[in-house]
Amino acid sequence: MILFKEAAPLSKHISKLRDKGNSIGFAPTMGALHSGHISLIEKSKTICDITVSSIFVNPTQFNDPKDFEKYPVTIGSDISALESAGCDILFIPSVSEIYPAGIGKAPHYDLGEIELLLEGRFRPGHFQGVCQVVHRLLDIVKPGKLFMGQKDYQQCIVVKKLVQLLNLPIDVITVGTYREESGLAMSSRNLRLSKDEKLEAAAIFKMLQYIKENRTTNPHSTLENYAANYLIKSGFRAVDYVSIADAKTLQPTSAISEGIKRVALIAAFIGDVRLIDNLLLDE
Ligand code: PAF
Repeated sequence: MILFKEAAPLSKHISKLRDKGNSIGFAPTMGALHSGHISLIEKSKTICDITVSSIFVNPTQFNDPKDFEKYPVTIGSDISALESAGCDILFIPSVSEIYPAGIGKAPHYDLGEIELLLEGRFRPGHFQGVCQVVHRLLDIVKPGKLFMGQKDYQQCIVVKKLVQLLNLPIDVITVGTYREESGLAMSSRNLRLSKDEKLEAAAIFKMLQYIKENRTTNPHSTLENYAANYLIKSGFRAVDYVSIADAKTLQPTSAISEGIKRVALIAAFIGDVRLIDNLLLDE
């Protein structure tokens, strides 16, 4: 694996590989890697000649400064994990490589309503920050395929929209969520949970499954309320949302709707750690 810290030599290196006919797959990350991230690398390796990853904890996508400060950093073990997974190129840029004109000077994207729903509602500005860093990384790496984890379901929709807005020739490939045995979705933020909190946190997946099992017999609002109450009883401090939504637009679906594919999404806090997860209901 070759490690780059600067954008210009990385772009040059990748462009030589592309000129020789290699296809380029890219899995951007914020580090603190777990098996979910590694599955993105493995997927890329099955369909692309060269796999590139990046580690950059992007300050502009954190609406809560404490969340940014406490974001886990495990760079040494991340590098070993990527190397063992067979990643070919790793980019670990500084803030000035990603935001050469300075933070706050990056573009604003017209993402439409998706930016205001769910994560967008509870984390104002989050998706603008995600788009700023992803746009810059795509400009540098210019991959043919971009690999994203389904755990960040809304992020996948937003990034597809970004690629469409910028008219880039990139396939965005969503890779399924990796879970602990308990059902807890793997997440870098799980590193901040105690052993007991990790067990409590499995209630999110339990509720997603409950919603899936009962989706045809109960009104959506009943299922959403039941799940939110259950999470609080299971030790969660607060629930930002439980939403049964249209899987494409994330607009709430209030009734048992025919023909529309749905997804259930949850965001909730254990202590000050915010966890998100989702489950497709109609597949
Ligand atoms: O999903 C993440 O880890 C981040 O949001 C991403 C896509 C790497 C952008 O910083």
